[in-house]
Amino acid sequence: MDEEFLLLNPGPVPVSDRVRRAMDEPMVSHRSAAFETVYERVQSGLRTVFEESTLSGTRTASGGTPLVLNGTATMGMEAAVTNLVDDHEEVVALVNGKFGRRFARIAERHARCRRVSVPWGASFDMDAVAAAITDETALVTMVHNETSTGLVNPVSGVGRLAAEHDALFAVDGVTSIGGDVFCIDDWQVDIAVTDAQKALAAPPGISAVYVTDDVVAAIDGESAPFYEDLDWHLRKAEQHQTPFTSAVPLFRAMAAALESIEGEGMPARIRRHRRQAGAFRSGFTAMGLELFPDPAGATVYSNTVTAVALPEHVRREPAAFFDAVERRNLSISGGQAHLGGEIFRVSNMGGLDDEQILRGIETVGAAMQEVGADVDPEAGVAAARETLES
Ligand SMILES: Cc1ncc(COP(=O)(O)O)c(C=O)c1O
Repeated sequence: MDEEFLLLNPGPVPVSDRVRRAMDEPMVSHRSAAFETVYERVQSGLRTVFEESTLSGTRTASGGTPLVLNGTATMGMEAAVTNLVDDHEEVVALVNGKFGRRFARIAERHARCRRVSVPWGASFDMDAVAAAITDETALVTMVHNETSTGLVNPVSGVGRLAAEHDALFAVDGVTSIGGDVFCIDDWQVDIAVTDAQKALAAPPGISAVYVTDDVVAAIDGESAPFYEDLDWHLRKAEQHQTPFTSAVPLFRAMAAALESIEGEGMPARIRRHRRQAGAFRSGFTAMGLELFPDPAGATVYSNTVTAVALPEHVRREPAAFFDAVERRNLSISGGQAHLGGEIFRVSNMGGLDDEQILRGIETVGAAMQEVGADVDPEAGVAAARETLES
């Protein structure tokens, strides 16, 4: 009970002392040379995560610009949509979870949107996706790692379909970029979005978008909300500044977080995330629980967020289970929207060590037992340890 508080919900994730201290430096003007240096550090780190997120560290983008926005990932998603299409144009939005639905809602507000939907946690029917994307389609949106269900969606296949019809492709990599493989060029992504508070392990409040050189010409800042005019952001980025007052402490924290990522290297970081997510999966299933999503085809389990079905017994009073977890100084998340009371979710994004993963499994097991669920936490921890050591 006296153990240190551990944050395992899918964002915000724990930040290191170094990142926290970076926010505590004396304030500077966002138009000063001192800030421009911070901006350059952020951009250089973002290049690493947007352009080198493979298991071998090879470059995955032939050219583009990372931009930082003074707002969370939803602002990045909205910026992507509104800079790429006008209100009379068609967006095809793929929805199999809460964040796919968010992209669709944004598109519905700013353009003509057609949704391709399957139940949350299910895999897309690629024939249905192929039928929905036509020469009329100006933009396709999808979420790579669907945080609400713990699935990785097949971005490369959808990117191919979008390209066949000359449609642009905006991808939410909010809970994958910085922790899993992400290939801008191979997957034919035009704009990718990520967030500070997820796999980058920086504090919440700012987000980043990667604008490929190929798509710059299609960006019409005029149709975007004033604050999200990416044309303007691109011009200011050349001076290592943002159009409006930058959230200086958050930029500094992001620079420090990105330097840690560069120190670890993307290939090692991705391998660690994969190993730790594998440990969550093997641990929870060995304990007697069932994973929630049902991946098929090219859709796979997430390497950053694990969603687990609550056993029937716990579903009768889920609050008692979540209370029991919280009393053990652990923070996890429940299901979102209609999945509330049906699942729980844990994250291994950022800089967690293996002992923290094991503690998460052990604590969830103990909380389950406290509320009367028939689980075997010891078997769970043993299986997870084996995965971590393999
Ligand atoms: C995949 C994904 N996209 C977008 C968002 C939106 O982030 P925010 O609510 O911080 O804007 C989240 C947040 O959890 C997410 O997981």
